[in-house]
Amino acid sequence: MLKQNILEALNAQINLEANSSATYLSMASWCDREGLRGCAAFFYAQSDEERMHMLKIVHYINDMDGHAIIPAVDKPDSVFESIQSVFKMVYDQERAVTESINKLMTLSQEGHDHATTVFLQWYVGEQREEEGLVREILDKIRLIGSGSQSLYYIDKELERINKARAAAAGAADAGWEAKA
Ligand code: FEO
Repeated sequence: MLKQNILEALNAQINLEANSSATYLSMASWCDREGLRGCAAFFYAQSDEERMHMLKIVHYINDMDGHAIIPAVDKPDSVFESIQSVFKMVYDQERAVTESINKLMTLSQEGHDHATTVFLQWYVGEQREEEGLVREILDKIRLIGSGSQSLYYIDKELERINKARAAAAGAADAGWEAKA
């Protein structure tokens, strides 16, 4: 059974993950319209990941005899200034999510809720990876610069990152199946 304050904080986290998923879906759609196929594929996949993050919390709360509440999501921006500004927004969003996970972790530790602390450890690692990846993309964008060919090279870079992530996910699945 979850304590009320932890249940409320987990439900607030569901809200945050759902809004991230909607925001990234909107970014994917904008990138698609701009002809940035690599960036679009990145954000479609990222939106799915955020939904998975949300779903894990929904299942956890209900498994713990709480009630996961599914929120309405805010309408995300549908037009963006530039691909550079999009990735800066993503970085800010991920930092806000990390801060929220850290606060949840503190709450669970102070409440001696060991099950929730263990559950949240996965999110701590996930946020470290996500922030690191977005920082890497921002570094690449800065190095590529803003010349006339820059969008082409940024999109190619995102295609490379998508392939590397798909290969890593495939390897993780294969490892999982080998253990099963
Ligand atoms: Fe689920 Fe990217 O935070």
